Amino acid sequence: MRLHSVDVRELSPEIARAMGGQNALLTAGNRTGCNTMTIGWCQTGRLWNLPVCTVYVRPERHTYGFMEAQAYFTVSVLPAEARSVMQLCGSRSGRDVDKVKECGLTLCYGAGDAPFFDQAESVLVCRKLYVQDMDPSCIVAGQEKIGPFYGPAGGWHRIYTGEIVEAYAAK
Ligand SMILES: Cc1cc2nc3c(=O)[nH]c(=O)nc-3n(C[C@H](O)[C@H](O)[C@H](O)COP(=O)(O)O)c2cc1C
Repeated sequence: MRLHSVDVRELSPEIARAMGGQNALLTAGNRTGCNTMTIGWCQTGRLWNLPVCTVYVRPERHTYGFMEAQAYFTVSVLPAEARSVMQLCGSRSGRDVDKVKECGLTLCYGAGDAPFFDQAESVLVCRKLYVQDMDPSCIVAGQEKIGPFYGPAGGWHRIYTGEIVEAYAAK
């Protein structure tokens, strides 16, 4: 593996910078099988005195089943040139295509056999700590920006906060 272990505090700014630009791949599974999808929403920080990462997954995603079944998930930021990978993993479902194979991604495994990708420039391996569904009734009055994300089809995101147990960087 060309990635090496780093202090998570080195990666937090990089992960934040990637969101909304390069974005990242959220992956869950194990050595038997896994699925990955593009995510644009993700935060890292500190909670319950632990380094944490929070991601948001709609229930209709194929990745959702893997997130539910596994104790770990990973967030891989790919280099900016990997635009076609991010495009495919954000538009096709693992129900229809083996995205890892299709994109030529190389699997590596971290804590709990959590899968991530050797092509990444930074990776977080997270152990699930706290899981909660977004609740539309919790939107603060007057915050009309949120509603348009949700139409008649599709569920509200499930929030997964994980303890960051390993961090890797390419440089
Ligand atoms: C830039 C971008 C960001 C995305 N961010 C998220 C996200 O944070 N949460 C989510 O549930 N879906 C997100 N998606 C949608 C999923 O990546 C997409 O539906 C994917 O095909 C799901 O794959 P799956 O069915 O194999 O899980 C995003 C898509 C793109 C293109």
